[in-house]
Amino acid sequence: MPQQSTEILAATAGGIARAAQLLQEGRLVSFPTETVYGLGADARQGGAVAAIYEAKGRPSFNPLIAHVHSAEAARRYVEWNDVAEQLAAAFWPGPLTLVLPLREGHGISPLVTAGLNTLGVRVPAHPAAQALLQELDGPVAAPSANPSGRISPTTAAHVKAGLGGRIAAILDDGACGVGLESTIIGLAGPDAMLLRPGGLAAEVIEAVLGRKLVQRDVHDPLTAPGQLLSHYAPGAPVRLNADAPGEGELYLGFGPGSCDLNLSESGELAEAAANLFGHLHQLDALGKPIAVAPVPAHGLGEAINDRLRRAAAPRD
Ligand code: TXA
Ligand code: MG
Repeated sequence: MPQQSTEILAATAGGIARAAQLLQEGRLVSFPTETVYGLGADARQGGAVAAIYEAKGRPSFNPLIAHVHSAEAARRYVEWNDVAEQLAAAFWPGPLTLVLPLREGHGISPLVTAGLNTLGVRVPAHPAAQALLQELDGPVAAPSANPSGRISPTTAAHVKAGLGGRIAAILDDGACGVGLESTIIGLAGPDAMLLRPGGLAAEVIEAVLGRKLVQRDVHDPLTAPGQLLSHYAPGAPVRLNADAPGEGELYLGFGPGSCDLNLSESGELAEAAANLFGHLHQLDALGKPIAVAPVPAHGLGEAINDRLRRAAAPRD
């Protein structure tokens, strides 16, 4: 990806306004939360979310957490329920992420949820994060702001060392207090489930709920975060590296040429990543086998091919 000069912004009214403007323009901005520094993009802009993966050099797509300024804002994107209300009232803003079913008309890029029908939402407590989210008044997808495989950053200097020159700006407001990622609770199923232990102790959550959290089953691909993607695969067979569609196949193209849907006519990997999950869903809805054009394996192509291989893998 092209080098860019990374602006270091202070957490002043001017700095916050600039950070919100950059997010609106589809650029990447790192910002402090009470847990770790996040690498933020507007969650409604697929191209911006794709750029997160590009900047981090992450070889696979995991679902990302959408950061919002309030429980009220969260309810714009997810189906709310009583347990969510109870936990939000007790712990938001704070280091707690809730996974809930996506709501109709949510507007969130499918690259944020990695094609799932649930979304992780979190209301961070850090004043600079709060100010930024209020200024933007939109959802910000943000994994930790470190290159893939490196430790999570708790200062702006860590972020600069890892991602300087690859992102538009860093909102610098000192060191993060918690230093451990948010606790993730799944509320899309019948029981509240601990999906990831984190900065908020499970016992504290259980005390508020008045019952134990269900532990995720590490063998269940639906609840094991690292394997989340293997469960979403199109219903129809998927054939990779196809130079042309066969008889009765739909064709998912890449680059110029005729096809049913094109990941990127100009052959841009960031555009292809942004389109990937939406296009797979659309073709899948037509109920025919899908042939996919070859996608180069460099840069973001690594994560795209990883996802396509999972979609094409044999299933039961
Ligand atoms: O403290 C934090 O949560 C930090 C700061 C920046 O807010 N963010 C963070 O994001 O740790 P990340 O991308 O490193 O972790 C996101 C994890 C995924 O790996 C996955 O385990 C879980 O959140 N997740 C997100 N959406 C999910 C979903 N729909 N269903 C299940 N798990 C989900
Ligand atoms: Mg992380």
